[in-house]
Amino acid sequence: MRLDVVTIFPEYLEPLNVSLVGKARARGQLDVRVHDLRAWTHDRHNTVDDTPYGGGPGMVMKPEPWGEALDEIIESGVGEPGDGGDGAVKLPALVVPTPSGRPFTQALAVELAERPWLVFAPARYEGIDRRVIDEYAERLDVYEISIGDYVLAGGEAAVLVITEAVARLLPGVLGNAESHRDDSFAPGAMADLLEGPVYTKPPQWRDRGIPEVLLSGHHGKIARWRRDEAFRRTSHNRPDLIERCDPAVLDKYDRELLAELGWEELPGGRFGRPGPAVEE
Ligand code: ADE
Repeated sequence: MRLDVVTIFPEYLEPLNVSLVGKARARGQLDVRVHDLRAWTHDRHNTVDDTPYGGGPGMVMKPEPWGEALDEIIESGVGEPGDGGDGAVKLPALVVPTPSGRPFTQALAVELAERPWLVFAPARYEGIDRRVIDEYAERLDVYEISIGDYVLAGGEAAVLVITEAVARLLPGVLGNAESHRDDSFAPGAMADLLEGPVYTKPPQWRDRGIPEVLLSGHHGKIARWRRDEAFRRTSHNRPDLIERCDPAVLDKYDRELLAELGWEELPGGRFGRPGPAVEE
């Protein structure tokens, strides 16, 4: 997979040289190219921003440097390995991190991991002139993505988040192909539950042992315990996931545990928890 990042802070992307993404690069599984947006400016001050039309606070990123940068990067894909050599031009998907984008989820990470080429356009200031996104949306698939309901000073941290979530899904990047199976939010396997707690040696640490069942060697009991813990944690930290849970994936024991945790089966089969009584 090829990843290009256009930014005014190339050094912010240094973490892409370490750990999982760094190793995937070293092994040739990821081709990461970080570009300085200011290389596509032509004035003495390398200006990338200007005041917003219509007034208001902050600055907006100018369209010209972005247009030149994106054109050059898109053009660089022609004749690259993977363009099929059939004359069909290989095009990237454009990823624009923004707090006003669609939420980044594991499902979206899986979708992005299936693309051969992503170009990231992280903005600083109040964002990029809208015409840039509208222009490239005519030629490319554009993903405007938010990594959460908070506002960062720029999109670079979001690029790191998205890149790591995507890279670990690429074939051969994680040592153990089974590793994503039980991930929190892994589609299917654990009914969209959060992962429960994990333990390793030593068996005693500061007077704390580990749950007996994990030493039993009884695979069925261990699987049941893990599922119960996943329900407990999900119920506590993400009750919205229990509310959305497809009742068809719940067995008798799941239902008993949910009842114990205060959940009630609603008429449609979904689960809800009675809220505190409203005082009249
Ligand atoms: N840029 C600023 N805040 C952001 C967010 N929450 N997600 C993605 N990009 C951003």
